[in-house]
Amino acid sequence: MNRPIQDWRTQRVWLVGASSGIGEAFAQALLAAGAKVVLSARRESELRRVAGAHALAAVVAFDAAAEAEWPAAHAKAEAAFGGLDLVVFLAARYEPQRAWELDAAAATRSFELNVLSVYRGLTLVLPAMLANGCGGVALVASVSGYTGLPKASVYGATKAALINLAETLYFDLAPRGLAIYLVNPGFVATPMTRANDFSMPELMTPQAAAQAMLAGMAAGRFEIRFPRRFTSMLWWLSRLPYSWRFPLLHKVTGL
Ligand SMILES: NC(=O)c1ccc[n+]([C@@H]2O[C@H](COP(=O)([O-])OP(=O)(O)OC[C@H]3O[C@@H](n4cnc5c(N)ncnc54)[C@H](OP(=O)(O)O)[C@@H]3O)[C@@H](O)[C@H]2O)c1
Repeated sequence: MNRPIQDWRTQRVWLVGASSGIGEAFAQALLAAGAKVVLSARRESELRRVAGAHALAAVVAFDAAAEAEWPAAHAKAEAAFGGLDLVVFLAARYEPQRAWELDAAAATRSFELNVLSVYRGLTLVLPAMLANGCGGVALVASVSGYTGLPKASVYGATKAALINLAETLYFDLAPRGLAIYLVNPGFVATPMTRANDFSMPELMTPQAAAQAMLAGMAAGRFEIRFPRRFTSMLWWLSRLPYSWRFPLLHKVTGL
C-alpha cells in the first residue's frame, strides 16, 4: 500500500519522541541501517545519549505540546540533513483513567500532545513533501484505539483519533506519491508502560518493536501492528458487535 523503503541510506528521518522507549530503539535501528536521523523530544541530555557519537544523528530538543515551538524545531530538523523523507510521530502521554477519575485538564494535556501536536507537525512537513511528490509520515497510535477499553478513557480516544487521521490522510496523500504508515503497537516494555499494574500479554522489547517497524516499512504496509497475535486478536474483537465485544473485553480485562 506504500512504496517499500528498502535502502535506509537514502532516508532522512525525523523522530518526534526519540529519547526513550520505542523511539529510542527505532532511532538506533535506523542509524544501524544507515539512515540520517533527527532526534527530538524534550530531554536534550537523553537525546544526546541516544545519538552517541553517531555522525548520522542530529538532536533537536523541543516540547511538541507547545504550538509555538514547532516552527523553529521543524526548521532545524529540515536543515540538519537538507530535507526530510520520513517523519515519525511518537510523542505521547499515557494516563490510565476510569470514568470517575476523569479530569478535563489532564484530558486537554493528552489531546494537545497525542493528537494536536501531530496536526501541528503535519501542517509543517507536508507542504515540502507534496511539492516534491515524495516522502512519508508515520503516526504511532495503539491498539487501544481499535475499541473502547477499560481505563483508556482519554488515551484510547487520542489513539482512535490518530487511527482515523492516518486512514483519512491515506486517501489524499497516497495518490500524490507520499507514504502513510499507521503503527499500532500492543504492549512494549518502555517507561510508558512501567507503571502498569496488570500483566501485559505478549510484552515486547522496544528493540523488537523497532525491527517490526523497519520490516513493515520495508514491506510497504499501511498498518504496522505488533506483536501480530495479540494485536490481531484485538483487531478481530473490535469488529464484533457490541453485545459480544463488551462482555468479552470485560472478561479478558477483569474490569
Ligand atoms: N509502550 C507501549 O506498550 C505502547 C503501546 C501502544 C502504543 N505506544 C505508543 O508508542 C509511542 C512511544 O511510546 P513509548 O512506549 O516508547 O513511551 P516512552 O518511552 O515514554 O516515550 C515517549 C517519548 O515521547 C517523548 N515526549 C513526551 N512528551 C513530549 C513532549 N511534550 N514533547 C516532545 N516529546 C515528548 C518522550 O521524551 P521526553 O520525555 O524527553 O520529552 C519520549 O521520547 C507513543 O505514541 C505510545 O502511545 C506505546
